[in-house]
Amino acid sequence: MLIRKPDALYGTNIPSSEITPKDKWLNRRSLLTGAAAAGALALGADRLADVLSPTRTALAAGKLTTVKSQLSTTGEELTQLQDVTSYNNFYEFGTDKADPGHNAGILPTRPWSVKISGLVKAPKVLDIDSLLKLKPLEERVYRFRCVEGWSMVIPWVGYSLSELIKVCDPLPSAKFVQFTSYFDRKVEKWTSESNIAWPYSEGLRMDEAMNPLTLLTLGLYGDVLPGQNGAPVRVIVPWKYGFKSAKSIVGIKFVDKMPATTWNDLAANEYGFYSNVNPNVDHPRWSQKSERRIGQPFYAQRHPTLMFNGYGDQVASLYNGMDLKKFY
Ligand code: MTE
Repeated sequence: MLIRKPDALYGTNIPSSEITPKDKWLNRRSLLTGAAAAGALALGADRLADVLSPTRTALAAGKLTTVKSQLSTTGEELTQLQDVTSYNNFYEFGTDKADPGHNAGILPTRPWSVKISGLVKAPKVLDIDSLLKLKPLEERVYRFRCVEGWSMVIPWVGYSLSELIKVCDPLPSAKFVQFTSYFDRKVEKWTSESNIAWPYSEGLRMDEAMNPLTLLTLGLYGDVLPGQNGAPVRVIVPWKYGFKSAKSIVGIKFVDKMPATTWNDLAANEYGFYSNVNPNVDHPRWSQKSERRIGQPFYAQRHPTLMFNGYGDQVASLYNGMDLKKFY
């Protein structure tokens, strides 16, 4: 039975010691750019309300035909489209939360193709239209939890990544999947502001990638993905911290060894390969016991963080016998 029940998230009393202080998660960004970025970040939150990108105003037309999904999380208030599209991490388009909403509209999303390579029967290149047509598009409402301590509830559009993986025909020796994001310094000039070794890259173990919850994501709120949310195609892995969900994917490679990933390369002690949402394993610099739901009134924003972001009944068995403190 995969239909999720509403969670009793409200009315809890979380001690202030468990709330991630803003200066702590802002420090995450200083990993990338040092003092200059930290200065720029200070402006960020205050500018959120008045961000209006051309991409975002083009949304809400409901351009994608979707079917409801049994894998939807139900019972929680959706985060407003305006918040979903104006409070983003997409470092190719700037380090401020508001930057991607301003800048990512220039992503050239047509034509777009995804290269399938590595341990597969036959490498191939799939264009975005064939991905849009491969399977009926489902609307799946998922909780999305960022490692920084904020969360949203978003109606994504797509289908299980496993459907695409079947088409890719991986060899039995494929144990991991690596995702590579679009990178063009001429388009994403903000990449020079940070010390990430571009392109952005992420990875999943094969069984994680094959779990039906892992979503090949082509839209949100009934429309194609806006640039700032990873147009035209990304993955969403709802039981993991948000950074595992690579945006604007141009490459999917099947490999036999755990692949290098962007955040793990940058600070392995802070961002492990697994990065499952886990309130019992603190980030070295802040607690992960609770989260701030973006867009809710101040008094209602704080929610306890749930093990595997609340998707434990569907994914906990993937980690049987593993010490999740060691494999964070
Ligand atoms: N993918 C790429 N290519 N570049 C990025 O900077 N940021 C990650 C992830 N995927 C990122 C990325 C992080 S840190 C988060 S929290 C989520 O995207 C944010 O997704 P959202 O902006 O749609 O909420």
